[in-house]
Amino acid sequence: MLIPEASSSALHVDRAFYLILGISAALLLIVTGAMLYFVFRYRRRNGATPEQLEGSTALEIIWTVIPVVLVLVMFVVGERSFVLIRAVPHEFMQVKVEARQWSWVFSYEDGRKSDTLRVPRDRPVKLLLTSADVLHSFYIPAFRIKEDCVPGMDTYLSFTAKQSGSFDIFCTEYCGLGHSDMIAKVQVDEADAFDKWYAAAPARAAGGEQLLKEKGCLGCHSTDGTPKAGPTLKDLYGHRMVVITGGRERSVTADEDYIRRSILDPGADVVKGFPAIMPKIQMTKEELDAIVAYLEHLK
Ligand code: CUA
Repeated sequence: MLIPEASSSALHVDRAFYLILGISAALLLIVTGAMLYFVFRYRRRNGATPEQLEGSTALEIIWTVIPVVLVLVMFVVGERSFVLIRAVPHEFMQVKVEARQWSWVFSYEDGRKSDTLRVPRDRPVKLLLTSADVLHSFYIPAFRIKEDCVPGMDTYLSFTAKQSGSFDIFCTEYCGLGHSDMIAKVQVDEADAFDKWYAAAPARAAGGEQLLKEKGCLGCHSTDGTPKAGPTLKDLYGHRMVVITGGRERSVTADEDYIRRSILDPGADVVKGFPAIMPKIQMTKEELDAIVAYLEHLK
C-alpha cells in the first residue's frame, strides 16, 4: 500500500478502486490482445477474398450483456461504499473545520482551537466544514476522505481513524497564491492519550502565538524569516520598511500603530514586493494587544 489505509473509509474506497482498476486492466489486455491477434491472423494475403458477415444476434447480445453486468458491478460496489462512508454513526465527536486563505482552524466542542486536527483512534468523528472566504477542499489521503469547504454553507465528513500516527491534510482545490502552503496534520492518538489531552489542555490559550495560528495569519506569514505569500513576522517590530501607500512608496517604522493598522486595514500600507491580498481580520482589542506584545519579542 503506497498510502496507509488509516481510516474505516479507506478500505471501502480502496476496494472499489482496485475492483474498477482490475476490470479496466483486464479489458485493456483482452481488447489489445484480440486486436493484435486479428491484425496478424487476417492480414492481407495474395488471392484471399474476405468473407462478408451481415449481423449476428448472438454477438450483439454478448457484447451488450457483458459490459452492462460489469458496469452494474462497479456501480453497486461504488454506491454501497459511498453510502457507508457518508453515514454518520449515532455517537460521534464533532470538530468544526474552518478553511481560509491559507490555513485550517479546528474547533472542538469545548471551544478550544487548534491548527492540528487531533482525534482518538477507533472513535467516530464528524467534521463540519466551512470556509471563511473562497472554495477550498479538505483532503486526508490516508483516510481517503475529501470534501469541499464552501463559504456560507456547512458540509461534513465522517470517519473513524484506525491507525495512530500523524497524517497529511491538504487543500485540494486551487484557492489562490498560498494554496500549496495550505497544509496541516491530523494527529491520531490512542483513546486514553487523547482523553488526557482533551481533559488537560486549557479551554482557551489566548497568547499572541496561539492567536496568530487561530486567525490564520501563519498561513501567509512565517515567524522564522521564510517569505511566504506575505512578509515574515520575524524581526518585524521596530524595523524600517518600504511600503506602498495609495500607490506611493514610502518608508515607515513597523511600530505598534503600524502593526495594528496593518491587521485592521491591510490595504492601507502594503509591504513593497508583496501582493495586496490580505483580508481584513476580525479582532478584539485584547487580541490585538496580545499579538502586538508577541511580535515585539519575536526576534
Ligand atoms: Cu485552500 Cu487550496
